Amino acid sequence: MITIGVLTISDGGAAGTRQDTSGETIRAMVTQMPHAVINAGAIIPDERDLIEGTLREWSDERHLNLVLTTGGTGLAPRDVTPEATRAVIDREAPGIAEAMRAVSLQHTPFGMLSRGVAGTRGHTLIINLPGSPRAVRECLECILPVLPHAINLLTEGPREH
Ligand code: MTE
Repeated sequence: MITIGVLTISDGGAAGTRQDTSGETIRAMVTQMPHAVINAGAIIPDERDLIEGTLREWSDERHLNLVLTTGGTGLAPRDVTPEATRAVIDREAPGIAEAMRAVSLQHTPFGMLSRGVAGTRGHTLIINLPGSPRAVRECLECILPVLPHAINLLTEGPREH
């Protein structure tokens, strides 16, 4: 089983004034992955301590294999998802974020505005997706086929290719 947490980071979403379409898009797409099960989900405001606390709990206590965040990766003053993620990861996986930005740029020049990062904390892979449902779809389409192998490496170590 691949256990997954979906974390929507949005002031409007947390206040209930905005529908969590991006979180729903993630849930719909990841469940297409074989053996994937969504074990955790939350909508929280753009507050660094809350983001860090949730990422720590989902990694250290719930031992999820994969945490996908959406939102808070841009340049607005309250966009702090990358800073919170960097504070909790042990190792960065820059290729994942690079791939998402590369594919985003094929769709829109605004793709360069996402500062999302990816990395590991213990045996949990944490990936920041941008906030819009469209961006979520475009980025996930690119990385989803690679995630089972990434998670396999993280949990079981190298195997034959
Ligand atoms: N990436 C893709 N693939 N498609 C998009 O529409 N939107 C961009 C960018 N990445 C976009 C994208 C925009 S407009 C912004 S501001 C940044 O993601 C950051 O979004 P966020 O602050 O909601 O995380």
